[in-house]
Amino acid sequence: MTTRRQFVGAAAAGMAAAVMPARARRRRASAADARIDVLLDEPIGTIAPELHGHFVEHLGGVVYDGLWVGEDSPIPNVGGIRRDLAEALRRLKPAVIRWPGGCFADSYDWRDGVGPRSQRPRRTSFWGDDPQLKSLGDVPQRYEPNAFGTSEFMHFCRLVGAQPYLAVNVRTLPAQAFMQWLDYCNAPAGTTTLADLRAAGGDTDPFGVRYWGIGNESWGCGGNFRPEEYAEELRRFTTWAVPELGASLAFIGSGPSGGDADWTRRAFAALAERGALDRLWGWALHHYAGAEGAGADALAFDARGWYDLLASADRVGALIDLHWQVMQESDQAHRVKLVVDEWGAWHTTHPLADPSHLFESQSTMRDALVAGLTLDTFHRHADKVALACDAQLANCIQALFFTNGARTITTPTYHVFDLYAGHQGASAVRTVFTAPDVTWAGADNAARRLWGLAGSASLSGRTVTLTVTNPHLAEPRETEIALRGGTARGVRVTTLAARDVHDANTFERPDAVVPKAIEAPAVTAGRAITLVFPAASVTKVEIDLGS
Ligand code: AHR
Repeated sequence: MTTRRQFVGAAAAGMAAAVMPARARRRRASAADARIDVLLDEPIGTIAPELHGHFVEHLGGVVYDGLWVGEDSPIPNVGGIRRDLAEALRRLKPAVIRWPGGCFADSYDWRDGVGPRSQRPRRTSFWGDDPQLKSLGDVPQRYEPNAFGTSEFMHFCRLVGAQPYLAVNVRTLPAQAFMQWLDYCNAPAGTTTLADLRAAGGDTDPFGVRYWGIGNESWGCGGNFRPEEYAEELRRFTTWAVPELGASLAFIGSGPSGGDADWTRRAFAALAERGALDRLWGWALHHYAGAEGAGADALAFDARGWYDLLASADRVGALIDLHWQVMQESDQAHRVKLVVDEWGAWHTTHPLADPSHLFESQSTMRDALVAGLTLDTFHRHADKVALACDAQLANCIQALFFTNGARTITTPTYHVFDLYAGHQGASAVRTVFTAPDVTWAGADNAARRLWGLAGSASLSGRTVTLTVTNPHLAEPRETEIALRGGTARGVRVTTLAARDVHDANTFERPDAVVPKAIEAPAVTAGRAITLVFPAASVTKVEIDLGS
């Protein structure tokens, strides 16, 4: 059981371990009490680069104040897009970005966001009546100015090197509007009126949009549909004569919230019955992690809140397995893959800059561990999950960036994506982690339990990337790492840990929580590598293989 004293001392212990050479530590410590076997001869599948995707919704400060500042802004920008944010995001090689929502998508008319910006209409926003925004008066975030529309989003994607993933309005627009958006985006200039409208704005080349989400949370804000009703809409939107226009379209259905197996089962059965399952490429699951009591606070969480949140995030693995199994009842060959296009830790609001940044909350090592264990889970399920998006990119839940005026800072979550980038496109291999479990008391005083170390490994060329989270607040974990099917020649280690787990990057201290290279352990051919994973840390171990 973790005591309060251990909790307070956690970060110090973590830092000590991070800076203590492994050799010195071995002289002091008992033998390693954890082990990781990396089974290079047991591939799982290719880690789709799209597993490291992002999500941008017209909500609070994500778009306006966040990535979009406008061309006339004194803030450095590229065609209106905040330059430093775009440059930092590009470094992560983001394969895909989802837009324009979220719940916002099912009230958005794409036609409002095209053509000359000065002539675009102002509208109310889906989020305009959120009690928090309303309490602030008539703030701009309650309305949609439509300055950032389809072309602006496409330019943003091109700037950062990502593919666009568009969420289609199913609740308030007919299928015809979707066909026309597709036409506007993908038809070659000179072939249709909408393609010419796009070209007249300067975009002569089609956008080639492949990923189309048909509705969002259609069981809730996307229309409160029954699964059978939604399946009917999905058929209307995706079957018969949707023009391909050279983009190899991938339709993503609005999947379940958390463990709602009934939604998946009934929607799949209804689609299969009408032969419409073949039109689907992906099935979108959403999973937000949360903790109760003090644990709900982004910054002032206690030890229970730390572990409760990590355990809540860790549920994503079981959810993937559950829905994968249910999908197979109608899709025996597993042609349709899972998509987790909203994931993150949702705390009670704790904004950094501006209370109108709805759902913005500070980000600490706790959020870094959520990001690390979630991405590791996706890698371990590389055969099942084809695309995933962190919710959301800036000034929001599980953000990678916070902005304030001209300033942009990166969060611990950003640094985890950076540490993990080497997994993209690599071949995931099976791993076996053995470590003492972590235990703590839940709110009901019942004992709770979580694994003591977890992670994922992948192989690209002659380099193994192994990423590992140590959730223990106080105990660094000395670990033996053994390779099966290869021999290590050299090792590099980078760790993200904080002096105090409540530390966060702020506009005053933007580099309070950043990764650090730590002394590489000795490598002897044929022997396990011994390494110490600091308490409350996320670590990348890169292992070069001998020939
Ligand atoms: O990410 C915030 C909201 O959470 C999204 O708009 C919605 O899809 C989900 O409920």
